[in-house]
Amino acid sequence: MTPEARVKIEAEARDRISTGNAALVQAYDDYHRAMMNNDIAAMSAAASRQRAALAELESGTAALRALAESQAPRQVALTWFRSQMNLAPATVSAADAAGPFGLSWFHLISMTVVTLFALTLAALAASRHRRSIALVSRLTRAGPAAAVRTVGQPTAAPPAVPSPAVPKPADAISSPPLARANSSTWSGAMRVAAIHRETPHVKTFRLVAPEGNPIPFTFVPGQFLTFSAKVDGKTIRRSYSIASPPTRTSYVEITVKREDEGEFSRYLHDRIFVGDTLQVRGPSGAFTFDGGNADSIVLIAGGVGITPMMCVIRYLTDLTWPGEIFLVCAVRNTEEFIFREELEYLQRRWPKLHVAAAVAARSEGTAWMGLEGQLSKDAIVHAVPGIERRRIHLCGPPPMMDAIRRILAELGVPPDQIKTEAFGPAVGLVPPPRPSPAPPLPVSVTELLHKVETGAVPPGAPEVREAEAGPATATLSFARSGKAAPLPPDKTVLEVAESIGVPIDYSCRVGTCGICKTNLLAGQVTMEVQDALTDEDKASGTILACQARSLGNVTVDA
Ligand SMILES: Cc1cc2nc3c(=O)[nH]c(=O)nc-3n(C[C@H](O)[C@H](O)[C@H](O)COP(=O)(O)OP(=O)(O)OC[C@H]3O[C@@H](n4cnc5c(N)ncnc54)[C@H](O)[C@@H]3O)c2cc1C
Ligand code: FES
Repeated sequence: MTPEARVKIEAEARDRISTGNAALVQAYDDYHRAMMNNDIAAMSAAASRQRAALAELESGTAALRALAESQAPRQVALTWFRSQMNLAPATVSAADAAGPFGLSWFHLISMTVVTLFALTLAALAASRHRRSIALVSRLTRAGPAAAVRTVGQPTAAPPAVPSPAVPKPADAISSPPLARANSSTWSGAMRVAAIHRETPHVKTFRLVAPEGNPIPFTFVPGQFLTFSAKVDGKTIRRSYSIASPPTRTSYVEITVKREDEGEFSRYLHDRIFVGDTLQVRGPSGAFTFDGGNADSIVLIAGGVGITPMMCVIRYLTDLTWPGEIFLVCAVRNTEEFIFREELEYLQRRWPKLHVAAAVAARSEGTAWMGLEGQLSKDAIVHAVPGIERRRIHLCGPPPMMDAIRRILAELGVPPDQIKTEAFGPAVGLVPPPRPSPAPPLPVSVTELLHKVETGAVPPGAPEVREAEAGPATATLSFARSGKAAPLPPDKTVLEVAESIGVPIDYSCRVGTCGICKTNLLAGQVTMEVQDALTDEDKASGTILACQARSLGNVTVDA
């Protein structure tokens, strides 16, 4: 305290003492007089004045005492206030007062703990906020299918599966593609989790990842998987379309028709049980449709060719796709109508799903209210109004597809608006067809389907014209293996490779899976089906060994 302040406080204190003393004397006299007069009200008033005078006297005295004890003005006032309020004098221990900034250590430590607690909460909230922002931006970049990202695969966005060259209609629905193609092919074991019988000859196999959900790859509706197994000491590979949609990420399903003499389909039907594992490779294939760039889709299927179509239908209805979906199928008999109940159920739920089936024959004990007989041109026109302006996917046995292609051409559908996948069997494994003139156009598709299924027409048999077949005129050289063999015009590069033990991987043998892709180093080849080749493949000289034939000398990288 400055000396000036001390002088000022002391003067004020003495002033209070003298004023209070005088007031006290006066109040004492007043009280005495009122008591003599027995005036109670005056006594009460005098007593109050005595208290006020005493308080003033005490405040002055307390100030003088504080000055004498060198207390700060704030402490003087505090002491006086405590005494007035009958509060015990503050007892500040030496330890309490020893902290920095005049604060006690207890005060400092508790404030530090509270501050640290508040800072921790703020840091947690900030990191949660950062994580949510990162998650939202990842989801908006990747689209809703981020949930089906491949486990153990790079997270970079894979390139889109090439779309067919279909002109985009003016009012095309541009729905975001939610299904995603894998940038690389996955291979490994999958466990059979369930087996369902669909029809007397068709079973569905549900496959899961052995180590649990989700399935270890992503795919686009319409793609297929390639299975391999050692059957009676021989490794066999076959492709099967994925029938379950990409929206169901905990399993994939394939639906397989048992061929009476078929090696792999019989193996699956007769020797595979729940709990077994299967070697799987895939997904592959460009016969895809994810709802983008089209306002409607026409799916035409023959027999078991309905499997990729079912994947598309299940996917689009799962997504509530706003476009019209037309499914037209040729079925041999009511008993063999695969997915019939599910399609009827979906049709009741989704007014934009139109199913038309031509059933050649009604099986005993079954009912059929739909089209009976052949899948004719009239039936297609009736089932799909304005078919010439719609995108069409066609799948089934090759002869049935040829017949439908001709009908579509007659209806004025541009060829580049039609996308196809042949379920031809492994051509090389079927007894080779005898050279014969091309068969006449069949009466109807259903009849043709019937011929295929009863064996009257060898399924997937390539058209071999007499003029082409004959003795080898050329040599096929395999650069890596250092081997060479004659190349007859009716044999493919794959068939010749197999005959001299040059390993070339294959699966479908009908030009759709792409597993037999090989580099052509010299010469020229023709290929009947090139569905599995991209423009880049063609530009870089990649060929499909299962399709490649030649009349001249050829060298391949195998
Ligand atoms: C991309 C793609 C997707 C496919 N998706 C499916 C699908 O979803 N579901 C499906 O069921 N199939 C599908 N297939 C067909 C499948 O790959 C097989 O071709 C089919 O299961 C037949 O294989 P397999 O081994 O049983 O018959 P194979 O042994 O290859 O025999 C083929 C045919 O020849 C006949 N045959 C064989 N040997 C003889 C003989 N000595 N005498 C007379 N006839 C004989 C068989 O009966 C059979 O019809 C698909 C094919 C491809 C290319
Ligand atoms: S084996 Fe499938 S394209 Fe050749």
